[in-house]
Amino acid sequence: MRLRRPGAGWRRWALVVTAALVLAGCATGELPQNTLAPEGRIARVEDNLWNLVFPIAVAVFFLVQGLLLYALLRYRARPDDDPSVLPRQVAGNTRLEVLWTLIPALILAAIAVPTVKTIFDLSQKPASPLEVRVIGKQYWWEFEYSDEAGNIVTANELYIPTGRPVFLTLEATGQVTDDPSSIGVIHSFWVPKLAGKQDLIPGHQRTMTIEAEKPGSYSGQCAEFCGLSHANMRFAVVALEPAEFDAWVEEHASPQPPPQDELAARGAELFTSRTCIACHAINGYEGAEARVGPNLTYFADRAKFAGYILETTPENVAAWLEDPQALKPGAQMPDLQLSDEDIEALVAYLQTLK
Ligand code: CUA
Repeated sequence: MRLRRPGAGWRRWALVVTAALVLAGCATGELPQNTLAPEGRIARVEDNLWNLVFPIAVAVFFLVQGLLLYALLRYRARPDDDPSVLPRQVAGNTRLEVLWTLIPALILAAIAVPTVKTIFDLSQKPASPLEVRVIGKQYWWEFEYSDEAGNIVTANELYIPTGRPVFLTLEATGQVTDDPSSIGVIHSFWVPKLAGKQDLIPGHQRTMTIEAEKPGSYSGQCAEFCGLSHANMRFAVVALEPAEFDAWVEEHASPQPPPQDELAARGAELFTSRTCIACHAINGYEGAEARVGPNLTYFADRAKFAGYILETTPENVAAWLEDPQALKPGAQMPDLQLSDEDIEALVAYLQTLK
């Protein structure tokens, strides 16, 4: 019978884990949330800092682990050791102790200079930015543009112009916006290709700047556990050429006319009678001003909805109205027990909001 050497299982696991780590480095192609592939000035500044600090950290890691391994192997117990003889006892070595305190202190001090400078630089409000207020809710993002961009209020899709800094003021509230008594939870705003994370703290205002060089849709997500649907709290930053962005603002700052289609008009009525109006605003719809749920003025223009997890297709919108909790656990949107006819009419109305 063949005896298994001790440690064979351990070695197999070590091989599997190492292979997994090494192969993970082979991932290629377009990774939507690759923080090491910056596409904006802010992200690039942060990436440059990482490029400086990471190699130093790697060098320190291998140096320390190498010395540790050397000591373990060089001074390990051997079969011919006399167990009655103790190894030489060392009680202290002033020169070594000074060295291993001084060298790390110098390395940390050297790293601190560019790190602190970068932190201060990035926390400055840039010159002539576009200003947007970001409100983290459970579980979606509200974006409120400044005067300059028509005070547009939208959800989960943040449109920005390319080549211009966008200064964000971030807050977290509970269910009712603008009500300081509503208790919120902490979220974290993260668009890996455009900037690092910024936490949203209830009762506080945080700021950060993002910037995109090229037009495109940049994927983002909540990066702080905030409840049942934390993983369903995604968003996109859509960067447009400045002229296209201006056109977007002009179009989306205007209110919605009443629907012409008969089915959609019935849906618009249901919007009031089935209490949707108590939570959702639609600019141009009289009395629809609440900001508990997303502003729906240009709902049908959004690529995705429900925390940016569902494509805005009639089927998905119908499924959502049927049972929101099934698609996004913990969502504040209640199951309104709508009939199939009501859902059909509401979907028809929502489709006109573009
Ligand atoms: Cu919001 Cu996690």
